Formats: sequence, C-alpha cells, structure tokens
Amino acid sequence: MSSSTLPTSQKQVHLLQRPGMKPIDSSILGVVSSPLNVPTPLPAKHVVVKVQLLSLDPSMRPSMNPDRKSYRPPQPLNETMWAGGIGVVVKSSHDDFKEGDKVLSGSLGAQEYAVVDVEQAQKTGYFSKIDASRGIDEKEYLGALWGTGLAAYLGLVEVAKVQKGDRVLVSGAAGATGGLVIQIAKLMGAAEVIGIAGGPEKQKYVTETLGADSCIDYRDSGYYKQITSLSDRPEGGMTVYFDNVGGETLDAALQAMAAGGRIACCGAISGYNGSSTFTGLKYSHLIVGRRLSLQGYIAFPSFWPKETFQGAIGQLATWAAQKKIHTRFHFHDKVGVENFTDALVGLFAGKNQGKMLLKVDSEWKDAEKESSRL
Ligand SMILES: NC(=O)c1ccc[n+]([C@@H]2O[C@H](COP(=O)([O-])OP(=O)(O)OC[C@H]3O[C@@H](n4cnc5c(N)ncnc54)[C@H](OP(=O)(O)O)[C@@H]3O)[C@@H](O)[C@H]2O)c1
Repeated sequence: MSSSTLPTSQKQVHLLQRPGMKPIDSSILGVVSSPLNVPTPLPAKHVVVKVQLLSLDPSMRPSMNPDRKSYRPPQPLNETMWAGGIGVVVKSSHDDFKEGDKVLSGSLGAQEYAVVDVEQAQKTGYFSKIDASRGIDEKEYLGALWGTGLAAYLGLVEVAKVQKGDRVLVSGAAGATGGLVIQIAKLMGAAEVIGIAGGPEKQKYVTETLGADSCIDYRDSGYYKQITSLSDRPEGGMTVYFDNVGGETLDAALQAMAAGGRIACCGAISGYNGSSTFTGLKYSHLIVGRRLSLQGYIAFPSFWPKETFQGAIGQLATWAAQKKIHTRFHFHDKVGVENFTDALVGLFAGKNQGKMLLKVDSEWKDAEKESSRL
C-alpha cells in the first residue's frame, strides 16, 4: 500500500475499565474508530506500519491494573491496548526501513496502523526488520524469536544454567514458552525432561510431539503427589524447574527438587486472572534446606547485557533456521483487530493450544500453510 492511500480512520482496541482480580470478559476492552493521524511531513526516524499479526500474551492481564508493581507501566485507560506483532512499513522517514519492509515490534498496539518512533521503540523493547533470506517462517518471529523464545532460552540457559545430564521439570509445558523449554532442554543435553500440562491431549502433545520423557496432568486430582514424589526416585529429584505457572504447582515443585536445584521463575499464570484459590507456599523452608536457588527474570533487552541478549537471539535464530526448534501457533478463528478482546478472553479461558495469534490484516499470508498446500 502506498502512503497516499492510507485510510483517514482506523479501528483501535482501548482498555475501558480495570478488571481488578476478576477474570476478564468482553466489557474490559472496546473497539473504537479513531482518526489515523499521520503527521506531514513524517518526523525524522519514524515509520507507519500496517499491522498484520498480533501476539496475545499472558502479561497483558497483569498490566491492566495499576496496583500491580510490574516491569511494564500499567496500560492507561481509554488508550490503545499495548500489543506486539508483525507488520509492513507503508511510510518511512528512517534510512534503515523502507516501504514494503516487514518488521517485528513490541510496540504496534491493538490497532490497524501504528505510527512508530523507531529509536524510542528500540530503546524500550523490540523493533527490527524481518530478514526473509534466513528462511525462517515469518510467524516464528512471534514464537521462538520473540519474548516467548527468549524467555525459554534465557530462563533455562542463563538463569537455571541448564547442563548436560540435568533432570528438568517444566510447567505450562504445552504452552508456547514451555514447549520451547522442552526442545531447548533436549538440545542442551538434559537427561530427562518432565512436563506439566492440562489434560490427556496436551500430555500426548508434550511427550509425542515436543519430546518430553513424560508429562503430569495438573487437572488430575493426584497431580500434586505425582510432582512431589519425583524426589523419591532412585536417580534423585529434579535439578531444574522452569516455572510458568507459580501458585500450588510451584509449592509442589519445591518438594520435587534435588539439593542444589535451580528454579527459573518465568511466569505465574495461575494467579493472573483472579481465579486461583491458592493461599501461599507451604514448603518455602525447602529453599533453605535443599539449598535451592530461585530467580525471576524478564526477557526484555534492557535487563540483560547486550551480548547475552544478542547471543540468545542468534542461537534461537540458528536453531529455528535449522528447524531444530518450532513453536505451535494458535490463530484466533476470526480476522480483524475487532476480535482482539475475544482472542484475549480465549487465552485466559485456555482455548489456545500454543502461541495465540490474531490475524489483523486479511492480506497476510501464512507461507508455511501455503507451501504445505503445494
Ligand atoms: N519472564 C518473561 O519475560 C516472560 C516472557 C513471556 C512469557 N512469560 C510467562 O510465561 C508463561 C507462559 O506464557 P506463554 O506465552 O507460553 O503462554 P501460553 O502459550 O498461553 O501458555 C500458558 C500455559 O499455561 C498453562 N496454564 C494456564 N493457566 C494455568 C493454571 N491456572 N495452572 C496451571 N497451568 C496453567 C496452560 O496450560 P494448559 O493448556 O496445559 O492448561 C498454558 O499451556 C506466563 O506465565 C507468562 O507470563 C514470561
């Protein structure tokens, strides 16, 4: 699309009210028609991006409340909901980006077009060109090469310092991050990888497709005991726990650990949406007794030495190009930014099987799907 044919208005999704600790529903966010204000001339080092795909992320939920101290400033009311994704440059005043370039950005927002100050976007998060010559499927930039893949890699390799021979336990194992953790743990030479996921179908996916050695169903009434008894086995407890869910599962996992075990605290999704009845860790004394280390971390460039972060991206891109890692994606069944709220509510209702994406631009083509039709 040439810049002269830009529409004069666009749809945006705004946060209308703060959900507090209630599970989110469709009244929290609303679709607004807004003028598309593209300054003329475009200020230096700015681009206008037509949004094509948006990533739906669990961390959107905590950022809706101002009282939750977080690495991300709270989402302002009556403004476009933050969202990252992929788009195509339709107007540019930046030498490194020209019309037609595909870009990956954490600051597109839930809208059809974004006017982006590139330097600002790069300072606070991601904004980069997608290099089609690497042969990596475009949507994988929102999986293995995005916060998801970086959270998996940095947590496992830099925080938990996974080594050959480790016995790795991972919760949220059928999710986007957990799925990559399993694959990376195997690539790093873990002796055993045990997943925790909800229901027999996901257990099967975790073992048969992702390659975990076994998988515990956290919806099974005996799941807590199944986790704690992992430390009673002759080979000893788990040496690494990658925690995506927090809450009661973390409490059980503390009991599954071998002495000196390392825990990477990536997320606590069980407590994000106000539906948990969990009242507190009962086994925190094991952190002392078993000399466990627990560390939370955020896969944002500003929290890491540049070489560590770039090294992680480089390794993930190499594995993705070699098809050694892949992400399972779950597209929301409708196209258009007006479906953003449905997609987000679906994410918290567990309707997604893999990384949840919303196709915003009907012209975006899934190259992988197209090639599999040939
Ligand atoms: N630290 C960071 O920088 C960073 C970056 C990205 C993501 N994260 C965190 O990583 C975690 C996973 O994110 P994702 O993008 O991989 O999400 P995802 O693809 O939606 O996967 C989330 C998984 O969590 C599981 N889950 C949901 N509610 C649960 C509950 N109450 N108890 C146990 N399991 C539950 C689901 O398991 P089932 O489907 O098996 O029910 C789902 O597979 C989140 O906590 C997120 O905040 C952190």
